Amino acid sequence: MEHPTNRTLFFIITDRCNFTCEYCFNKNLRPKERQEYDFSKSENDLSLLKKNGFNHIIITGGEPFINSKLINFLRLAKSKGFKVEIDTNASLITKKLARDLKRMNIDTIYASLDSFNTEINEKTRKMTKNTIQGIKNLLEKGVNVSVISVLTKNNFKDIKNTNISLEKMGVKEHTVQPVFSNDSNLCLESLNKKDFYIAIKNMIDINKKNKKDKYAQLIEHLYLKKTSLIYPNCQMGKNYFVMTPDKKLKDCFHKSWMISSLDNLSIPLNINKDNCFGKHCCSMFVIDDF
Ligand SMILES: C[S@@+](CC[C@H](N)C(=O)[O-])C[C@H]1O[C@@H](n2cnc3c(N)ncnc32)[C@H](O)[C@@H]1O
Ligand code: SF4
Ligand code: SF4
Repeated sequence: MEHPTNRTLFFIITDRCNFTCEYCFNKNLRPKERQEYDFSKSENDLSLLKKNGFNHIIITGGEPFINSKLINFLRLAKSKGFKVEIDTNASLITKKLARDLKRMNIDTIYASLDSFNTEINEKTRKMTKNTIQGIKNLLEKGVNVSVISVLTKNNFKDIKNTNISLEKMGVKEHTVQPVFSNDSNLCLESLNKKDFYIAIKNMIDINKKNKKDKYAQLIEHLYLKKTSLIYPNCQMGKNYFVMTPDKKLKDCFHKSWMISSLDNLSIPLNINKDNCFGKHCCSMFVIDDF
């Protein structure tokens, strides 16, 4: 069977993390026992991915940098011609690590920070100083950094200040995504009407400023119903897939079932996902080509 050659893989390389963010969607996905990718299989697994049309890997977790073996994996992936991007809480990024990431030409580091203000940031995340220093180290070494903030009731008032502070630091891209949560305490809908509107408006303004117009429009439609529906041409299960540390493939973060496994990729990755789009889809990541 012929495979497309433009597949992207979100690779959950570990379930371990040095943070315990209350909103973390991964804690709901994670099995009781923490999983860790077996790095001794990297060479073979990367070849398998290439053979099956994957040329873009977004490493995520847990916290990817918690395992120092990741560096060799990244080097190997780059040497095999993959586009490599990494989601990280940035707290473990030393100057040396930033230099290594620059040298191996990592395409993008997506660093998570909910506020520049320590008190606000630590209502949802941890180690604010280390995170900001990690981002500084990356910028100093010339690594392409994109910052992601999750919008909650804790940071919605301050998020524009955070955007300005990041801009001053030299961050070129800042995306604000709504928290995805069924927990009534965390979700934006728990805000009163006025604050809810301010939260959504701030999120739209920052995303528009960052030229993420379609993403902003989608948020506007989903939360304020002001713009007409734009149905994202979702790439999950088409060109984008998710792989767990034990190499199970899924068509989407939002789904718990496995569709295949890297060691047995004979099943055609052809997924029916009619009507699965919901608010949560825009909460976790932005999919290209909305
Ligand atoms: C699961 S984390 C893994 C990588 C790394 N540990 C980090 O925090 O960046 C990937 C991204 O998902 C975001 N995220 C986690 N839970 C979320 C939720 N419930 N709603 C929206 N975004 C969420 C995180 O803030 C982060 O930007
Ligand atoms: S740092 Fe990332 S993986 Fe870790 S708990 Fe927070 S959101 Fe989840
Ligand atoms: S649940 Fe959302 S992100 Fe997942 S496949 Fe469906 S539309 Fe795409």
